[in-house]
Formats: sequence, structure tokens, C-alpha cells
Amino acid sequence: MVDCQARVSRVLFYMAKTSTTAIAHSNIAFIKYWGNIDPQLRLPANGSLSMTLADLETSTTVKFDGNLNADQVVINGEEATGQAYSRVEAHLDLIRGLANLDYKANVNTKSNFPIGTGLASSASGFAALTLAATKASGLNLPSQELSVLARKASGSACRSIFGGFVEWYANQEDQASFAEPIADENHWDLVDVIAIVREKEKEIGSTNGHGAAESSPLQNARVSDSSRRLEQCRRAILERDFFSLYQIIEEDSNLLHSVMLTSRPPIIYWEPVTISIMQNVVHWREEGLEVCYTIDAGPNVHCICSSASASEVEARLGNMTGVRRILTSRVGGPAKII
Ligand code: PMV
Repeated sequence: MVDCQARVSRVLFYMAKTSTTAIAHSNIAFIKYWGNIDPQLRLPANGSLSMTLADLETSTTVKFDGNLNADQVVINGEEATGQAYSRVEAHLDLIRGLANLDYKANVNTKSNFPIGTGLASSASGFAALTLAATKASGLNLPSQELSVLARKASGSACRSIFGGFVEWYANQEDQASFAEPIADENHWDLVDVIAIVREKEKEIGSTNGHGAAESSPLQNARVSDSSRRLEQCRRAILERDFFSLYQIIEEDSNLLHSVMLTSRPPIIYWEPVTISIMQNVVHWREEGLEVCYTIDAGPNVHCICSSASASEVEARLGNMTGVRRILTSRVGGPAKII
């Protein structure tokens, strides 16, 4: 008993003194998650499969502090308020519940890429927060449990716990809907060349978008066909078959945006230049470049390339009017404590 009390006070003393920092990478979904069967738990309507992005990362530092009356959250140098603050606070509450802890926390988070523009900043952000906050609270969770926990803050965050090529399983059971790598970051040296056409935060966040998915008459068809797309994508990755991969990536992205466009009210994330890039990518492929496009909940275009084609794709995108900036990323590793 005395031993146990001594251990608890040692842990509390340690926590008051130290902060924990985690880094997690963003990811780009090849087969996309859109719509939930349980929005509270973020149980997805369909499985999804993504590539972790080495060069787009979020670093998050968490310190639990017995002297704080409320959580303090700084995102990219600015005090968070409103919805951004409440989402972090709710996630910390979940972790405090698991760790049996009532200290408030100081959270400082920074991303090296524009946030809220369809580049999955919530994926890297909530994966980093999950890892840093669980460690800082004294929990030492296995990756699968971290993935389940991260999912509850932002669905795609459950994939950012892992590196390489990562599949997230759809399941009606909370504990069975987690992500897992199908191949690690050294399996295939694909490159994501991202054309940034808009840096402003999007008007309709993905949480609201998921809620609207069911209002589209196309969502049922998209969901019921998802096993076939997952199967083709999984096989294309494992066999490093770019031909098969590009077909399924573009088909899946087009299906997602068809659902968005036919939701009530319709969601139009594309800018005119988004469509020009899609058309150019198809021409460039006919000319021999190994490249395909995929677009998340925003107007920016991810051009997935073989490493041999990446620099030519960068150069061609750079010559297009309306492309403001290009970010290039290789396949990334798992979230980690630093
Ligand atoms: O995890 P969320 O709620 O930000 O949703 C992500 C939705 C897409 O980026 C469009 C698709 C995906 O699977 O990442």
C-alpha cells in the first residue's frame, strides 16, 4: 500500500515536471473514408487505405499540470478557441478518463503545412495528440489501442499512428475499428506531389461532410462497392502495380466527389484549377508519366507518382497558372515520441 502510494506520488511528481512531445505524419487516402455508421464513435461506413506522408508532419507537446484550471491549447502559435479547442479538450477528457487523472493540460501543436485545406492536418494533429497525451498521462498503450483512440478524435487520425501503407477496418464494434499497416514505408517509393491551389481554411469541415454523405443517393453504391476497391488497391500496393493502382485511386476519388456533389446541400470543394490539374494528369499519363490524381475534402490535388516521374510532375505543375505552391512527400513512418 505504502509502495503503491509512493509510486503514484512519483508518477505525479514526474508528470508535473515533464512534457512529452510526439510527431505524427499526415496521410493521403487512396480508398477514402466518407460517412459514419456512428458519428459519435466515428465508426466509418466503409474501410479505407492510405499512404503516410513523411514530409507533412505535426509536432505536439503535452504537459499535464495540477495548477491549471482549464486546458490551454496553442495551435501554430495561436491560442485555440471555439470548435478547435473543444475537439482537443474532448479528446483530453477521454484520455484523462482512461488514465484516471484530473489534471488539465498544456498543449502546443505545430504543423509544417497548411491546416484545414484537405491535407489531413487533423489526421497528423490528433495522432500526435493521442500519442503525446497518453504517454504524458502515464499510459503506455499498444499501437492498436492508440489507433482506436485517435479514431474517436478524427477518423483518418487512426491511420496516421502507422507508417507505410495503412488500412483502416470498418466494423460495428468500437474496439475492432482500427488501422494497421499492410506494407511498411520501405515497400514502394511512391511520391505525393501536392498542388496547393488554396491555402485558406475550407468552409465545410470533414465532420460536417461525413454527416451529409447519406443524403446523397450515390453514397450507398459507393459504400457497397468499397470491398472491391479496397481489394484492388491492396493488391496493387503489394505487387507494386502502378497501372492497377492509378485506376482504382482515381475511380475512388471521383466516387467520393460524386457523393459530395450530390449531397443535400451539395458540397463543391473543387476550384477551376483543380479540374485543370485532373485533366492534365490524364494527358501526362498518356505521354508516359506514372502519375494519378486524388483529392480529399478540399481543392488541393495530390498527384501520386512513381519516384522516376515525380520531378517532371513537379515541374509541370509549377508551370500551371493557379498552382500557388507545391509540397512533395515520400512515404512516411509511424507516429513517434521524440
Ligand atoms: O478524418 P476526417 O474526419 O478529417 O475525414 C477524412 C476524409 C477524407 O480525407 C476526405 C478521406 C480520408 O479517408 O482521409
